[in-house]
Amino acid sequence: MNTRLADLQPYPFEKLRALFSGVTPPVLSPIRLSIGEPQHATPSFIGQALVERLSGLSTYPTTAGTDVLRSALCEWFARRYHVRLDPATQVLPVNGTREALFSFAQTVVDAQAHRDRAPLVACPNPFYQIYEGAAVLAGAQTAFLNQTADADYCLALDALSEEEWRRTQLLYVCTPGNPTGRVLRLEEWAQLFEYADRYGFTIASDECYADIYPNEREPPLGGLEAAARLGRVDFRGLVVFVSLSKRSNAPGLRSGAVAGDAVLLERYLLYRTYHGCAMSLAVQHASVAAWREELHVRQNRGYYREKFEAVVPILAPVLDVSPPEAGFYLWARVPGSDTDFARELFAATHVTVLPGQFLARDAHGLNPGVGYVRIALVPELTDCVEAARRIAHFTAES
Ligand SMILES: Cc1ncc(COP(=O)(O)O)c(C=O)c1O
Repeated sequence: MNTRLADLQPYPFEKLRALFSGVTPPVLSPIRLSIGEPQHATPSFIGQALVERLSGLSTYPTTAGTDVLRSALCEWFARRYHVRLDPATQVLPVNGTREALFSFAQTVVDAQAHRDRAPLVACPNPFYQIYEGAAVLAGAQTAFLNQTADADYCLALDALSEEEWRRTQLLYVCTPGNPTGRVLRLEEWAQLFEYADRYGFTIASDECYADIYPNEREPPLGGLEAAARLGRVDFRGLVVFVSLSKRSNAPGLRSGAVAGDAVLLERYLLYRTYHGCAMSLAVQHASVAAWREELHVRQNRGYYREKFEAVVPILAPVLDVSPPEAGFYLWARVPGSDTDFARELFAATHVTVLPGQFLARDAHGLNPGVGYVRIALVPELTDCVEAARRIAHFTAES
């Protein structure tokens, strides 16, 4: 058995189940704001496109995907990030960003490189747990870069020593961030590229919330766009991860893409060929339709905007909370312990939120998730408003 499996942490939702065990919620409609699963309907044209190409089930797809899909992806990257990619070498389809974020570490990490010491994979903290599992199963150790309100959620790059940076082979970033909604600025990208060049690591930029933002005129900056603006037109050392899950409310389609450094993607394609994760032709066809259509995405953003506009004024008088730069989460500071708050809130109101410490680790003397909860505004507007009223009443009373 692979002994590294024993080093994997329980997933945040397992911890939540344990936290709530033995608690009986009141007889009120349950409202779950804990899981980051989009709940708006998947646009019907995506399902139609899937059905249209069921004939594709009789053929083995290639791992690199069809030319049509790679071109549609390049067109989307050009529209969204103003970058020109070569469809033959700089983009690949993946079955959602989760599997890609995981398998990318297996491609990039060389567990033997430092002989007596494990290589490091650096991650933001709080973070999406797949980064950690990917690092562990690749034979690396994680090194955390805390993101705290006091530092405006900047990645604490100076928390790692020179020796640790030299051992770092891969850095995950998440922009817009889950859970903070923080978007990396151009000057932060410049610094990350400078570190990557100096220490020789690869940057994996998780941008699965790229299309969820409040202001139609200000789409958040992404890694490829930052690289191009800084003159790194070959995107060396950088691969970005994007997804249809949040953009198109299609988490069950399992469709995303990676793009960036052609040399890294050539190696990654080799890994994926053996891994056996080619995308079904029916899913590819539906993905082409989804990546080419922006109206439904704009509408989707409108729904989230409405929810933030309704919910934040209800919560702000009782909790330290403000709308995020992008994404669909509120990262709210709560009075006292985040785990007590989540459990007691559930017990009193049947509303579920995720304790921040379940999304973070103790690092450099603190757990930056302690004292926060993540509130995912994924249910319908009326449920989000109802949940916010229950949270506000509960917080004011306790
Ligand atoms: C930060 C982050 N990255 C990646 C994913 C995975 O998304 P998918 O595999 O559906 O593209 C999620 C899902 O919640 C996420 O929150």
